[in-house]
Amino acid sequence: MTRLPAKHRTAYINARLLDPASGLDAPGALLAEDGRISDLGPQLFADGVPEGIQTVDCAGACLAPGLVDMRVHIREPGEEQKETMGSAGRAAAAGGVTSVVALPNTDPVIDDVAGVEYIARRAREEKRVKVYTYAAVTKGTEGRELTELGMLGEYGAVAFTDGTKAVASAQVMRRALSYAKTFGHLIVQHPEEPSLAGGAMNGGEMATRLGLPGIPSVAEVMMVERDLRLVELTGGRYHVAHVSTAATVDVIRRAKAHGLNVTCDTAPHYLTLNEIAVGDYRTFAKVSPPLRGEDDRRAVMEGLIDGTIDAIASDHAPHDQESKRLPFAIAEPGIVGLETLLPLSLQLFHSEKIGLLDLLGRITAKPADILGLKAGHLTKGSPADLLIFDLNKAGKIDPDLFESKSKNTPFEGLPVQGRVRRTVVDGRSLFEAA
Ligand code: DOR
Repeated sequence: MTRLPAKHRTAYINARLLDPASGLDAPGALLAEDGRISDLGPQLFADGVPEGIQTVDCAGACLAPGLVDMRVHIREPGEEQKETMGSAGRAAAAGGVTSVVALPNTDPVIDDVAGVEYIARRAREEKRVKVYTYAAVTKGTEGRELTELGMLGEYGAVAFTDGTKAVASAQVMRRALSYAKTFGHLIVQHPEEPSLAGGAMNGGEMATRLGLPGIPSVAEVMMVERDLRLVELTGGRYHVAHVSTAATVDVIRRAKAHGLNVTCDTAPHYLTLNEIAVGDYRTFAKVSPPLRGEDDRRAVMEGLIDGTIDAIASDHAPHDQESKRLPFAIAEPGIVGLETLLPLSLQLFHSEKIGLLDLLGRITAKPADILGLKAGHLTKGSPADLLIFDLNKAGKIDPDLFESKSKNTPFEGLPVQGRVRRTVVDGRSLFEAA
């Protein structure tokens, strides 16, 4: 008689189960078998865990789907001094992120099958969190010639974007939306009219006072308004990355009300900071799009609360000291975000802006569903990609403790509440807090 190999089973008990998509928020337990969730609920293991099953006592901590971060600059290939697949994977696990989606503006750009396969192979070699990738919309992200969207999708690209560059030509965007539509693919836009985006910070009084060239906030909404016309024309699927202005929230809200196929995300820094953070030329507060005025920040928050903004993505943009220790105008834009995504997002819950399940949905099920990833849900049969976290544990953001190779965060020393205890991918524990 052939014996079946014993199943690898782990019981997570004494947890607060949180599944944003189904609305589950209850004390209970979860069973992971061979990398999948096989059962969960308030009654599971009510009479104890049978022998032979490994047990993790969550001691009342929250057990949620692992976070899905739809906007991550891994920097490999090409800028491994800033981040690698390995360091990004460790940073993600430490941050409770079980799925990352890599941006294609690497060196070389991910614009062909070899590039998409390279990312998949490197992720397999590292065996850390799940790494999905975007492919570029245009060859070399140069904005002219479309990539092979259909074939790249077949080889695993989950959506298409030129990363930090907007697709500037209306004609190219029109073709991209039409072409992507035939395959059901999504186009993700960096919302900035390039001819207005030459500045270093938000255009306005503060930029004038600091003597820095400003990027007017209309640069963002102009690009989105143009694209929405093209979405209407083509029926394509369109997603706006890192929304930062009130006007953009407004037009997306109206487009959704008109039934257009549009979604969007923002990053924690657009919800928690405004241009004042630039203060004394702090390059850690330089991002693209730039931090805006307080009215914009509030409107972005409103957009998140009312569901106009679907998801929060870290926009993890690691930079080394050489790229940031420069005069503000020429420093690189970007903030590392994988290890601060959860605590910064939880601030919105702790300050009673948004309910816990709703908030968690924006960093789990929503981004996963927008990109069609099998992630972000705590349901039977789903991969056991789990995040166990203390909701109330107080601490301070300390970049010295980051696993990321880069430490460029304006949030150093910020008191936060919420800490990752354990991160599990396909049933495998990848991170455990000390
Ligand atoms: O601030 C940013 N930095 N925004 C982007 O869109 C790109 C990123 C980077 O690559 O550093």
